[in-house]
Amino acid sequence: MGIRNIVLEGDPLLCKKCREVEKFDDRLSNLIDDMINTMNKAEGVGLAAPQVGVLRRVAVVNVGDGNIELVNPVIVDSSGEQREEEGCLSCPGQYAVTLRPMFVTVEAFDRFGKKVKYMGKALKARAFCHEIDHLDGILFKSRTV
Ligand code: NI
Repeated sequence: MGIRNIVLEGDPLLCKKCREVEKFDDRLSNLIDDMINTMNKAEGVGLAAPQVGVLRRVAVVNVGDGNIELVNPVIVDSSGEQREEEGCLSCPGQYAVTLRPMFVTVEAFDRFGKKVKYMGKALKARAFCHEIDHLDGILFKSRTV
């Protein structure tokens, strides 16, 4: 397990649409472990694979109640609105108020290919949306209000 370098704003990798994961193998497992370590060391609440230079649909989230790993995540339901200040490990020192849903439901797979489902409210909903946006090459600044 290691720490990976975080790609910074301005790098074209952050603007690409990521491809789905097809192989649930050791390589994926290592990527997820490294992403969790990298997120926690940077004291972030989420990290997406393109932020470590991997253009695959993988994200991790931890809003203080444990690590969540999301492979090929899809938002299947959302409701409400929130306007809160948001930042990104790829845009150090930059913060902006974004418009996000207050509640989201995400379906995804874990590292073993097992289906998982998470409900997020407030910060967790925001983190899910922010990280899934990264997988489509979207930075939080395009969600500002
Ligand atoms: Ni981010």
